Formats: sequence, structure tokens, C-alpha cells
Amino acid sequence: MKVTVVGAGAVGASCAEYIAIKDFASEVVVLDIKEGLAEGKAMDLMQTASLNGFDTKITGTTGDYSKTAGSDIAVITSGIPRKPGMTREELIGINAGIVKDVATNLVKHSPDVILIVVSNPMDTMTYLAHKVAGLPEHRIIGMGGALDSARFKYRLAEALEAPISDVDGMVIGGHSDTGMLPLTRLATRNSVPVSEFLSAERLEQVKEDTKVGGATLTKLLGTSAWYAPGAAVSALVQAIACDQKKMFPCSVKLNGEYGLEDICIGAPVLIGRNGIEKIVEIELDEQEKQKLSESAEGVRKTNALLEA
Ligand code: NAI
Repeated sequence: MKVTVVGAGAVGASCAEYIAIKDFASEVVVLDIKEGLAEGKAMDLMQTASLNGFDTKITGTTGDYSKTAGSDIAVITSGIPRKPGMTREELIGINAGIVKDVATNLVKHSPDVILIVVSNPMDTMTYLAHKVAGLPEHRIIGMGGALDSARFKYRLAEALEAPISDVDGMVIGGHSDTGMLPLTRLATRNSVPVSEFLSAERLEQVKEDTKVGGATLTKLLGTSAWYAPGAAVSALVQAIACDQKKMFPCSVKLNGEYGLEDICIGAPVLIGRNGIEKIVEIELDEQEKQKLSESAEGVRKTNALLEA
């Protein structure tokens, strides 16, 4: 299993590290345009192999896509991250050009690749990848909901004063502060609805804290987060590599599911060796349907900027 990670910055390096540590891939190639950065990160990570006990071979390259040839999976993390006070949508001008160029180069060298898009604004970058890559729809996955759901579980566990492994919850919709939709109605603690334990006000607070999860970290760190994004990507890569058919909310091209089409937005999917094995349609109540439709409007507005 060969995995390419484009972008050797904070998120790219973190996801390469998590993939290597889990030891399911034979090879990880990291590519960046900044001279020497990918080679340096790869070498540094390889020097953790004997300490962390993995055999995955990590190599780096400055822009040489021939080194990525034959990749089964490629992760696109190249592009600028947001600074405090910025929205993800404000990154589109620079990142659209980067994602277009990177996706085209990746597919040229690995026609059978499964692409995981991370660069922001992620739903729009995933939509762009569909336009330029010429891959079957099940082979393009946007990573956002897996991270947002992990942040939701963190906030739920905090509110419940429970271990994280006791809680379950999912975030669907657009990967933006206003667009994401933490499904509090379906969240559980040991299979019991969390509304049995938390007041409506506390649950509302959990929802709001989840939605600004990225912005909160950006304010603290001065740039966007990397550990949880890297871990979320590596979980998707592992689900593909090990054919887990595991459910994650991911940005996927919808063709009528949830009443939406010609859009990439977060919905629950089963991830396995073919990429998106199935889009799962969960029953939403009227309020959730309305929120998802508003979220889709927001994503469409950002998509329209691609034409500008
Ligand atoms: P970073 O600035 O640390 O790293 C980005 C890297 O991309 C840099 O090393 C840069 O040299 C490289 N790069 C730029 N243009 C390139 C090109 N044409 N080809 C190859 N490499 C290129 O940024 P960070 O923090 O790693 O974030 C990366 C992206 O991921 C940002 O757009 C950020 O907003 C997004 N992000 C998305 C998340 C999600 O849930 N979808 C979560 C966190 C970050």
C-alpha cells in the first residue's frame, strides 16, 4: 500500500506520522514545493521508526511527482491555512490554484488513486477535485466530518464528564463554522441519548463549541490545528487500506441523497478499499433537514467563487 501526502506542513507531516505509526502502509511519499522540507520531514520521521516500532518507509521529494507513481491513496494538504480571525472560505483564492495543479499531477502519475482532500475550504476543494481529476466519484473523499465529529465527541465527553470511548456522535454538513451540523439528537453515551444526561442549554453549548472547534484552536495556536486533522486523515487512510468499511462523515459528491445534488458536503459514508463504498442516508428531522439545506447554500456560494 503506497500513500502519497502532498504538503509537508503541519497537517501533512502529522498525518504521515500517524499513518507510519499504525504500520499498515508499506510506503509513504511526502511531497512539497518548499525545497528540502519534505525530504527533511521524511528523514526526521524515519528516525522515529526504531523508537516507535514501525516499518513503513517514508521518503520526501521537492515537487517530483514521478516519485508518487503508483500511489493507492493520495492526501492533499497543500495550501495555506487560516490565521486567527479568518474563515476557511477566505483561503479559496490561493488554494484553488494549488489543489487543481496538485490533483492533476497526482492522477497523471497514479490513475487508480483514491484522493483525500484536506485543503480548505475543503468542501469546495473536494468539488474542484471532482471537476479536474477525472476520477470516478467514489475515489474522491473530502476530510472534514471525521475531524469535526472527533471534536464533537471531545466536547460531549467534557460536558458528560465521561471517557471519550463512552460517547458517540456525528457532525454532518459543510466543514465551516456556520455550516457544520453536530447531530446532538443522535449523540449517545453508552448507547443512551445524551439528552438523558444534559440539559438543552448544555447541549446547545456543546454544539456551539464544536462548530468553532477549529477557530478556537487557531486563536490559541496562531495557525490551524494539526494533530487531530492528521489523526482524522490517517483513520480514513487506514479504513481504505484495511478495507474496514467503517462509517465516517466525509465530504462526498451527492446525487440526490439528502435532497442535494451537484455539491460536495459532509454526509455519513462507509469507507473501504474502493474509497466511498456507500453513502448512508440517515433519517433527519425537519429542523436538521432545514439546517443541512442552509449549510448546502453556504457551500454553493463558496463553490460559485471558483468561477470568479
Ligand atoms: P502549512 O502551511 O503548515 O502546510 C502547507 C504546505 O503546503 C506547506 O509546506 C507548503 O509549502 C505546501 N504547498 C503549498 N503549495 C504547494 C504545492 N503547489 N505543491 C506542494 N506543496 C505545496 O498548512 P497546514 O496547517 O498543514 O494546513 C494545510 C491545509 O489544510 C490548509 O488549507 C488548512 O486550512 C487545511 N486544513 C484542513 C482541515 C480539514 O479538516 N479539512 C484541518 C486542518 C487544516
